[in-house]
Amino acid sequence: MLEELLHLQETAVKKILATRKLRLLEDLRVRYLGRKSQLRQIMSTLGDLPADQRPQIGQAAGSAQKAIKFALSKQLDLIREAEESGSRIDVTLPGRAPISGTFHPLAKLSNELTDIFRGMGFELFDGPETEDEYHNFDALNTPKDHPARDLHDTFYLKDGGLLRTHTSTVQIRLMENRPPPIRMISLGRCYRKETVDATHHFAFHQMEGLFVDRNVSFADLKGTIECMGRQLLGSKTRVRFRSHFFPFTEPSVEYDFSCSICSNATRKSCRICKGTGWIEIAGAGMVDPAVFESVGYDPENYTGFAFGMGLERIAMIRYGIDDVRLFLENDLRFIRQFSDS
Ligand code: DAH
Repeated sequence: MLEELLHLQETAVKKILATRKLRLLEDLRVRYLGRKSQLRQIMSTLGDLPADQRPQIGQAAGSAQKAIKFALSKQLDLIREAEESGSRIDVTLPGRAPISGTFHPLAKLSNELTDIFRGMGFELFDGPETEDEYHNFDALNTPKDHPARDLHDTFYLKDGGLLRTHTSTVQIRLMENRPPPIRMISLGRCYRKETVDATHHFAFHQMEGLFVDRNVSFADLKGTIECMGRQLLGSKTRVRFRSHFFPFTEPSVEYDFSCSICSNATRKSCRICKGTGWIEIAGAGMVDPAVFESVGYDPENYTGFAFGMGLERIAMIRYGIDDVRLFLENDLRFIRQFSDS
C-alpha cells in the first residue's frame, strides 16, 4: 500500500504540472482529491489496518495529499498568470519593426555638398533667415534704386526687416566679423514672393560659397566649381560658364553642368536638359570690390570668388523629382523613398 501511495502521488503531481487549462486542472483535483478518489478511499480505511502499519501508511497518505494540493495550487497560479498576461501580450504575433528615420532629400544633398566642400578646405557657416535690407541688398552692392532689387520679390516684415531672398547675406555677416583669408559655405532656407507651382516655391534652399585671399583668380573659381560638379554628378561632368550680371560680382557668370542623365542617343527626349546637353545650375563671379569695401576689406590686396545655387533644382535632377512642392509637404511616403537602407 505504501508503494501504491507513492505511485499515486507521483502520477498525480506529474499530470497536474503538465496541465495548461483550468478546466482540466479541476478534473484532476476531483480525480485525485475528491470524495471518490483513491486517496480518500485509502484514508477512510486506515482504521482497518493493523496497528503497526497505521502510522506509516497514514503519514504517507497525508504527505501524498499535501504534495497533490501543493502542485494544484502552484499550477493554478501559473495558469492564471499566463491567461492574464496572454490577454495583453500575444507572444505568437510577429514583431513590429522599429521605425527608423530617413534623411530628407535636401538634407542628404546638403550633407553631401558639405562633405565635398569640407574636402576642399571650406568651413560651414550659418546665418539668420530674418534679415535686414543692409545685409540682403545694400552691402551686396544692391542699393535701393538698383534695378536688380526688382529681381527679388521680397517678403518685408512689419519691423522693417525682411526674409532673406538668398544666402549671399552670410558672406557679408562672416566678412564683417573675420579678416581674410576666408573659405566658407552656407546652406539654408530663403524666401521670395513666388506663386507656387511645380517649379517655384516661396520657400526654397540655397548654398552659398565664398573664397577670399590674396591672388584668388577666376581660374580658382572654375576649378572649384568643376571639382564640385564631378563629385556631385559624376567624374565625366563638364562645366560651362556663360557671362551674366549680379550686383555683388564682377565679372559675373552663370554656370551649367553637362547633363549626366542622358547620352547622345537619348538627348533629344531628355526631360532634364531639354535636349541641350547642359543643366543650368547657378550663378557665380569674382567678388565686386564694392562688396569688399562695405565689409572693410582692402580690394587692392584681396580678391575672391563667390557662388550660389538653389538646392531644390539639384535635388530634383539628382533624385528625379518633378515637383518642387514635394520638398515642403513632409509626406512620409515621399521622404522615405530616400532612405539608404
Ligand atoms: N544670390 C544669387 C541668387 O540668389 C546667387 C549668386 C550668384 C550668389 C552669384 C553668388 C554669386 O554668391 O556670386 O540668385
